[in-house]
Amino acid sequence: MNVYVFASPDEIGAAVAQRFIDDAQGRTPRVWGLATGASPLPVYCRLIDAYQQGKLSFRHIKTYNLDEYCALPRNDENSYYTFMHRHLFDAVDMEEKNAHFFNGTAPDWAAECRRYDSSIVQDGGIDLQLLGIGQNGHIGFNEPSDAFSGDSFKVELSASTRRANAPYFTNRPMPQYALTMGIRRILAAKQILLIATGTAKADAVQRMIEGRVTPQCPASVLQTHAQVSVFLDERAAAQLSCRTPTVR
Ligand code: F6R
Repeated sequence: MNVYVFASPDEIGAAVAQRFIDDAQGRTPRVWGLATGASPLPVYCRLIDAYQQGKLSFRHIKTYNLDEYCALPRNDENSYYTFMHRHLFDAVDMEEKNAHFFNGTAPDWAAECRRYDSSIVQDGGIDLQLLGIGQNGHIGFNEPSDAFSGDSFKVELSASTRRANAPYFTNRPMPQYALTMGIRRILAAKQILLIATGTAKADAVQRMIEGRVTPQCPASVLQTHAQVSVFLDERAAAQLSCRTPTVR
C-alpha cells in the first residue's frame, strides 16, 4: 500500500482527482468505481472544476457505484443515485446510460446483484476504484464478519454504519439493508484509491494498514492488492506507527 498524509481533505481531493484526470487521458473507455459519503466530495468538486476548465470529459467514462440502499426509490433524496447526480453527474457531461447503480428496489436482489456484476465484467472490469472506509473498517458496505465476501450481495447494515449514516435520513428511517459490491469484486479493480479523514477513522485506518488481514476489518484485505493508494489527513493517520511517505 502507498500511504499519503495530507494537511487537509481539500488537498486530498485535488490529489485524488488528479489520478482520475490522468486515468481519463489514457485509452478509452475507462471504467471507474465510485463511492458516496463525505470522503469523496472534495474529489467530485475537483472533477467538476476540471470539466468546467476543459481538462476532463466524462463522455468515454463508465461508472459503477459501490452500493445502494435497499427499499429506497431511485429518486429518493437519500439514494446513492441521487447523491451522485447531485454531487457530480448533473454538473458534467456524464451520459445517463454510462452511470451504473444497483437497483435497490429490485424484487429479486440476487438477480440484481448478478446483473450488476456481469455488467462490470462485460465492460472489462473496473480500472480505478474509489473507496472510503467506515469507522468499523467496512469498504463498500462489507461489514465486519467471519469471512470475506465475493460477488455483490445484499447486506444487513451494522449498528455502527446505521449510527454514522442516520443523520442524513431526515425524511424517513434509515434502511436496514443495502446491495453492495463484495470484497472479491472490489479487489478485482486494477487500481484502488481510498480516502479517510478525521479522528473517527483513525482506529480503522490503523487496523487496515498495520493490522492483520481479517474479515473483522474488511479494509485490511486491501493489503493483499498490489495497486492501492491510501489518502489520509493528519487526524485519520494519527494512530499509525509508520508515517512515511508524507505529502504536505
Ligand atoms: C459509500 C460506501 C461507504 C463509505 C464509508 C465512509 O458508497 O461504500 O463504505 O465510503 O461509509 O463514509 P464517509 O465518507 O461518509 O465517512
